[in-house]
Amino acid sequence: MTANVLFAGRADGWPTYEPLLKAELARRGVEADLRTGFAPEDVDYIVYAPSGPVSDFTPFTRLKAVLSMWAGVEKIVPVVPASVPLTRMVDSGLEQGMTEWVVGHTLRYHLGMDTHIRGLNGRWHRHVPPLAKDRHVTVLGLGALGTAAAKALAALGFQVSGWSRTQKEIEGITCHAGPEGLKAALRQAEIVILLLPDTPATENTLNAETLALLPKGAKVINPGRGPLIDDAALLAALDSGQVGHATLDVFRVEPLPPEHPYWAHPNVTVTPHIASETRESTAAEVIAENIRRAEAGEPLLHLVDRSLGY
Ligand SMILES: NC(=O)c1ccc[n+]([C@@H]2O[C@H](COP(=O)([O-])OP(=O)(O)OC[C@H]3O[C@@H](n4cnc5c(N)ncnc54)[C@H](OP(=O)(O)O)[C@@H]3O)[C@@H](O)[C@H]2O)c1
Repeated sequence: MTANVLFAGRADGWPTYEPLLKAELARRGVEADLRTGFAPEDVDYIVYAPSGPVSDFTPFTRLKAVLSMWAGVEKIVPVVPASVPLTRMVDSGLEQGMTEWVVGHTLRYHLGMDTHIRGLNGRWHRHVPPLAKDRHVTVLGLGALGTAAAKALAALGFQVSGWSRTQKEIEGITCHAGPEGLKAALRQAEIVILLLPDTPATENTLNAETLALLPKGAKVINPGRGPLIDDAALLAALDSGQVGHATLDVFRVEPLPPEHPYWAHPNVTVTPHIASETRESTAAEVIAENIRRAEAGEPLLHLVDRSLGY
């Protein structure tokens, strides 16, 4: 039987995704009709992004799965019926992009690059940065993206700790879990990177209490999601010097409103949610593989746990 696959990503993504998805489905021997329009009751799979045309899933009565094109699914979990399997995007291109962004911003802080980019004003002030082996970096969230970034930082020689909901064992990373584990991970974190999903349990992971655990002057890098940080607490910590600088890619409201204090704060770098993107060619492989699995009755990859929200 032919599987009807509705592409419900952004319209401008279709010209790129159409040939890639068709090729990946064919390569796996999946008989599929891939389109941007069907009668809803005929659709078997939806390749989905919240920025696409579908917001109401109720007319799709025979859905076998919804395949998210996004890694973060906090906007998708509430709208996809609980009875329909939902997968999130785990993509080697997304991982590589995030790793590069995280390593770049970590090295900026580690090497104190801003001092020289701003200029020494004629003063021959020599401050030699420590080696990475003497710098402690903590990654909150040890999933697909956090683990990839943590491993890359460890490969550069940093002392890397990580924190997740369940205990992990990752070579070269000191792994913590649970509320006490968070405290231990933060106490050492000269640079802390947030790669947690946005769920009720992760909201305000960095708040007044947890920010106070960081070594004075610690740097915060958030490519995860805006609600992971209590913004008022971070601004207070920046003003007091408890946090030395923050690089923020994600915000509770995006685009970040022009009047938001982060824009003007001298110790904040704002980047416009560009840390990493799903890359079409590698994402098409993951989507096609999951359709193949579903058609063959095999378990899907990267299923979202609806009770946990990620
Ligand atoms: N800025 C960007 O451009 C961009 C791009 C892509 C993704 N993102 C963000 O990055 C996030 C992470 O992506 P991912 O693919 O790495 O997700 P993932 O594979 O689902 O990993 C999530 C990690 O967070 C941990 N976690 C979840 N809830 C927790 C809790 N209550 N306490 C402690 N740890 C908790 C998980 O722990 P367990 O391992 O124990 O389950 C897991 O290690 C996404 O959700 C998205 O928000 C941002």
